[in-house]
Amino acid sequence: MSGLFPLACKAVGFRPNGQEVLRGVDLVLGGEGITVVLGPNGAGKSVLLRMLCGLLEPTSGSVQWGSAAGPGREVAMVFQHPMMLRDTVLANVALALKAHAVSGRERRTRGRAMLARIGLEDRAEQSARLLSGGERQRLALGRAWLTRPRLLLLDEPTASLDPSGVEAVERIIREIRTDGTKVVMTTHNLGQATRLADDVVFLAEGLVREHAPVQRFFARPVSPEARLFIKGELPWHVGF
Ligand SMILES: Nc1ncnc2c1ncn2[C@@H]1O[C@H](COP(=O)(O)OP(=O)(O)OP(=O)(O)O)[C@@H](O)[C@H]1O
Ligand SMILES: [Mg+2]
Repeated sequence: MSGLFPLACKAVGFRPNGQEVLRGVDLVLGGEGITVVLGPNGAGKSVLLRMLCGLLEPTSGSVQWGSAAGPGREVAMVFQHPMMLRDTVLANVALALKAHAVSGRERRTRGRAMLARIGLEDRAEQSARLLSGGERQRLALGRAWLTRPRLLLLDEPTASLDPSGVEAVERIIREIRTDGTKVVMTTHNLGQATRLADDVVFLAEGLVREHAPVQRFFARPVSPEARLFIKGELPWHVGF
């Protein structure tokens, strides 16, 4: 069993150059399901995800990974604009296995099986740079999934995708969850949050304003900020 959970943020502050981005985030995440982080632009959602994978250090407070010393290889992150090597789709999906000391032959076998799961099996030998935004996002998810991370962090995985691209990515995210990976993701698509989330973390003004089961969050938001946000009426100046 993984020792990453519970994953806890304790009074996490982030003040780069004196700008107060996070003011004391307290958050405890269990190892199951999909957590969706919501909040207005600039709320610190991407910063929080980067902290959860160890890419950013808090200015104050701490992130504690269960009994583990740090995030390590069991944590993977997919960014909004995933990087593609100048190589084939197959090489790109199998990329992460290189760091896991998997032989070339095995990488290709497992890579092809993953391409079938994400609907890109016909594109294996094509250049990954020719893929559309939605296909790249699926490839990036497959690449991360292939290493069977215990925790997968997704920053706006469907931003700028069309409805069928969104649906394809949501299906993959659900399968990754079913496969036993804890998912923490951000989105501005509230419909997506209701479709995917088990629980919602609402960030505003540098704080976690709410952390609730998804149905409760949308049916009975507690904080005024969350209520306005759900109605699409959060004034731009709330926060900063
Ligand atoms: N590495 C960094 N160093 C300094 N400031 C940063 C860094 N990363 C983010 N910031 C600042 O922190 C604030 C929050 O940024 P963040 O990208 O986390 O917002 P967000 O909630 O993801 O917004 P969006 O919905 O637009 O993606 C911004 O003002 C940003 O400029
Ligand atoms: Mg962001």
